[in-house]
Amino acid sequence: MNVTVSGEPLASAAADAVVVGVYADDKKLREPAARVNTASGGALGEVLAAEKFPGKVGQVTHLHTNGRLPARRVVVVGLGKRADTTGESLRRAAAAGLRRARDLGARAVAIEVLGDRLPPRQRAQAVVEGAILGTYTFDRYKREKSDKQVESLSLAEPDGRQRREAAEGARRGEIFARSTWLARDLINAPANDVHPTHLAKVAADIAKEAGLGLQVFERAECRKMGMGLFLGVAAGSEQPPKFIHLTYTPAGRSRKRVAVIGKGITFDSGGLDLKSAEGMLRMKDDMSGAAAVLGIMQALPALKPAVEVHGLIAATENMPSGAAIRPGDILTAMNGTTIEIGNTDAEGRLTLADAICYAAQKVGADEIVDMATLTGACVVALGPLCSGLFANDQALAKRLLAAAATAGERVWQLPLIDEYRENLKSDVADLNNVGPRGGGAITAGLFLKEFAGDKSWAHLDIAGPAFTEKDTPLAPKGATGYAVRTILTYLTEAGR
Ligand code: BES
Ligand code: MN
Ligand code: ZN
Repeated sequence: MNVTVSGEPLASAAADAVVVGVYADDKKLREPAARVNTASGGALGEVLAAEKFPGKVGQVTHLHTNGRLPARRVVVVGLGKRADTTGESLRRAAAAGLRRARDLGARAVAIEVLGDRLPPRQRAQAVVEGAILGTYTFDRYKREKSDKQVESLSLAEPDGRQRREAAEGARRGEIFARSTWLARDLINAPANDVHPTHLAKVAADIAKEAGLGLQVFERAECRKMGMGLFLGVAAGSEQPPKFIHLTYTPAGRSRKRVAVIGKGITFDSGGLDLKSAEGMLRMKDDMSGAAAVLGIMQALPALKPAVEVHGLIAATENMPSGAAIRPGDILTAMNGTTIEIGNTDAEGRLTLADAICYAAQKVGADEIVDMATLTGACVVALGPLCSGLFANDQALAKRLLAAAATAGERVWQLPLIDEYRENLKSDVADLNNVGPRGGGAITAGLFLKEFAGDKSWAHLDIAGPAFTEKDTPLAPKGATGYAVRTILTYLTEAGR
């Protein structure tokens, strides 16, 4: 979808469809709906009255203009109550509007910078994010592809000063949404295609196109660095593991050095502690954190934050075989900590632990943030729409919570309860990789915290929201690309 910003009023926009918003509590039509109504000979107002259109967020109706407007169709989207306007309500309204326009066969769509409560920059970003995210489809593996697609989106803003602000917001929205698409595509594609070698190839393509630094460490180099946990998980797989390190360096002075780590298990069978058929079915999504890292890194050169960002992925499958690690095995982490394997299915924390050691020791990061589809327990705690946040630095946690709120992604902080650390004790090694069933997301967080040492560190458990089992306002069934927009918001705010 090609996005532009135009000064042409919506009523005279040359498009297949125009999209206007109405607030639920508007007594009469405001601009630009009012002008579109006049131009349509009052047809818009009649449709709204006839349908008693309530104008709630996500509600949509449409009318045909019978040649009275350059556009053949008008799509009307509800914006909810004016006082409740948020970035998220505008995202959802735009998404619903664009889906309707697409389903009506429109290829060129013009839309107003919806709402009037927030600054135009923020509204334009939300509208573009909603439009692009809400019309995502994944049909790469299907013979029959839908021919209904919006090819161009024009944001109409007649006011010159507001238009310049809207253009900045629209550009940011496009970058945020495209990075999220990249993550979704990688997660939705199956594990027989998206293996560690593929992730390394995508990282190389991104590095080349965006101008990022890249190092990919093979098994032998990881062994030399002492990544015993990562290589332990990789031992059972026929696929060679890859440790991927992408670097974004700002042009000017860098405010700080941030490491962003993504769990990169391209398929999680559970290992010798094999998952059930049901439990394994969705496990191609166990690289959602890694996909988010690739989406984030791709966006940085265009967004130009004033922070140095290191994207890290310890990519491997978790498979059972004669070469796989066994329950009871003892592995040594990059920082020398020995780990008894209580369960081979708690593999994510092992790969992440070595990545955190690498971020602390080799990168010298000031802040480390990891994103991981880490525990079923977090899904039990927060459900499918919310990720869990853990941090050893409350200031960092607050910045991430604020970024998530701006991005419209639900994040809820969970406690790292000190007393539970004893649940990770081992009789024979420094730590066990699993604890009791209760508080499983916390135990996993406490395990990771051990490797952050005195560095500022935060962990997002995205096991719930990384993948949706039904269509949602901004994502169809499948991968959501969760955390990309939160982390991009956090990185660009951190650089201000
Ligand atoms: N990748 C899974 C976590 C997961 C489960 C994500 C369900 C999404 C949906 C992780 O590697 C895992 O298997 N965790 C185990 C840990 C347990 C063995 C301590 C879990 O949550 O059951
Ligand atoms: Mn697992
Ligand atoms: Zn896993």
